Amino acid sequence: MPDADLDRQRAAARAAHADAFGPGPTWAAYAPGRVNLIGDHTDYTGGWVLPMTIHRGTHAVARARTDGTVRAVAEGYGTAAPLRLGEPVGDRPLWQRYVLGVAREVAARADGPPGGADVLTTGDMPIGAGLSSSASLAVAVGLALAAAWDVEIGETEMALLAQHVEHVDAGVNCGIMDQVAVRSGRAGHAVLLDCRSLAHRAVPVPTDRAAVVIVDSGVGRSLAGSAYNERRASVERAAEVLAERGVAGPDGAPVASLRDVTAADLDAHADALGDLLPRARHVVTENARAVAAADALAAGDVAEVGRRMAGSHASLRDDYDVSGPELDRLVALAHAAGSFGSRLTGAGFGGCTVNLVRPDRVEAWTAAVREGYRRETGRDADVFVVRQNREAGVAAPGDPA
Ligand code: GLA
Repeated sequence: MPDADLDRQRAAARAAHADAFGPGPTWAAYAPGRVNLIGDHTDYTGGWVLPMTIHRGTHAVARARTDGTVRAVAEGYGTAAPLRLGEPVGDRPLWQRYVLGVAREVAARADGPPGGADVLTTGDMPIGAGLSSSASLAVAVGLALAAAWDVEIGETEMALLAQHVEHVDAGVNCGIMDQVAVRSGRAGHAVLLDCRSLAHRAVPVPTDRAAVVIVDSGVGRSLAGSAYNERRASVERAAEVLAERGVAGPDGAPVASLRDVTAADLDAHADALGDLLPRARHVVTENARAVAAADALAAGDVAEVGRRMAGSHASLRDDYDVSGPELDRLVALAHAAGSFGSRLTGAGFGGCTVNLVRPDRVEAWTAAVREGYRRETGRDADVFVVRQNREAGVAAPGDPA
């Protein structure tokens, strides 16, 4: 489908690359951000998630070099000191660790040692708002460098590569939802992803019945890293406790994650789980909600999707304890203004809510939510409708724009 906006952005990104590094042919990759409709804090326990891409994202423009160095510029952030491939990425500013960490990983998959590259990144993602700006950056850079160095990297491998960089270079023990959504999301569809097998299926989103609306609370997520890693550790511990108690999965082996745990298992071992019980209960119930919501979405039953979203928010707030006063206000205001569903999206601790709203009600709904949020919190909320959900891809030198 022609996408004039994206072509214009790509042309501007290439022009910025020429300004930074001089004229010449370039590979220009794009990776969108994502919003998660339902299924949060389930991916790192091998569970179910239902994200979709959005129309905001990251462009990465690359040209190969021959001297073994990677030079990087990020519009709005600055210029990295050149890195010789093979040298450690080290303790650089976060954006550089993503770009140079991805370069190291793509280079490791090349046949011979690649000769280096000049990379420029730019985009229109809100950073740290829970819309996967970092996965978008990592996948865009990965696509651009793989093309510039002629390295074959499949979609799932690219997602895993970007996740690895998040773990080792950024220090966040994230799951795989964001990277798969960003790399493999398809226009007009959400992705129902089984985070254990990484099998996924595209589920049509009936935007004629419900607009997908994102509301940014404006509350940053500076503590997200440590609190996130702590939540992950607690549900891994919960699975160990259940395995020690003899809880087995369908194959008869002790459970390796909460994926195979049932509500009845949690009840039976509540005493052993102690404080871990609400955390584990969130994961178990959220998996069921995500699968049910995907079925409802596929059937066009947006009211049912909305009910599951409401259950998800309550569980993230009460059992998983990753919401906050601003996100809870936004969800309450969304319901009061009339939506099918509303919930925090992504890791929580600030960031955004995702909402399903009747298309002819979006304007009035937006005004009511913005007004109420300002009145109740003194803050401005950024509200935007997902206009289209873009796909990741790469344009060769000479391709349009
Ligand atoms: C962040 C992580 C994901 C996922 C979500 C919560 O976005 O990067 O892997 O765990 O939080 O669902």
